Amino acid sequence: MKDILELSSGEKIRFRHIKKADLDAVWRNFNEVVKEDIYPVFSPVETQYEKESWYDNLKREKNLCIVADNLNLEHPFNVIGQCEISNIEWDASRHVGSLGIIVQHKYRDLGIGYRLIDIAIRDAYKLNNKKKIILSCFSNNERAIHLYKKIGFIKVGQRKAQFKIEENYYDEVLMDLCIEDYLNKKKHLNLESK
Ligand SMILES: CC(C)(COP(=O)(O)OP(=O)(O)OC[C@H]1O[C@@H](n2cnc3c(N)ncnc32)[C@H](O)[C@@H]1OP(=O)(O)O)[C@@H](O)C(=O)NCCC(=O)NCCS
Repeated sequence: MKDILELSSGEKIRFRHIKKADLDAVWRNFNEVVKEDIYPVFSPVETQYEKESWYDNLKREKNLCIVADNLNLEHPFNVIGQCEISNIEWDASRHVGSLGIIVQHKYRDLGIGYRLIDIAIRDAYKLNNKKKIILSCFSNNERAIHLYKKIGFIKVGQRKAQFKIEENYYDEVLMDLCIEDYLNKKKHLNLESK
């Protein structure tokens, strides 16, 4: 998979690992999603302390975060999406990564999410020895569920009424992906360099 995607607008999107200089942009993307009510978080992250603590923890834990860097935009507005694969707490689950992803609203449905996940999964396998990726999302997040299924994630469960926003309850969908199955399928379909 190439690390540059050219959009029909002519904008060039480069996929790379996060740098400290990306922090404000990454959290701006997060705060945009908080307002959409499709994330189980209500408050935006505003303080430098919270942003830097997250970054320090990412580095300390050797978690992985791939960003989509729009080469046509100036810093700090250049990072238009991100995908994190983090460790989960149990020693016996070091082979498992937990995935979270955000793409800015105006850049959705252009294939950026797909690229972010593909690169993050490959690097999690290569650099962090991950064998399996898990994730969860709201059951009404149709775009995310479509994308996850397209990649090959399998729904393994649904927690009823796991989230409550104002007076409404939402289910949480749980999904898994075996990385070797994913890589083998891509190799089989000869999609390695696309
Ligand atoms: C989920 C998210 C990361 C997807 O990113 P993206 O860049 O739009 O992803 P892509 O463009 O690669 O793929 C989107 C796919 O969803 C499809 N889609 C869009 N709206 C849809 C809908 N209502 N129902 C089903 N599929 C839909 C698109 O057609 C596209 O599929 P295709 O490539 O087969 O045509 C992005 O929408 C996002 O950041 N959402 C807010 C945060 C979030 O929900 N994160 C994940 C939940 S934890």
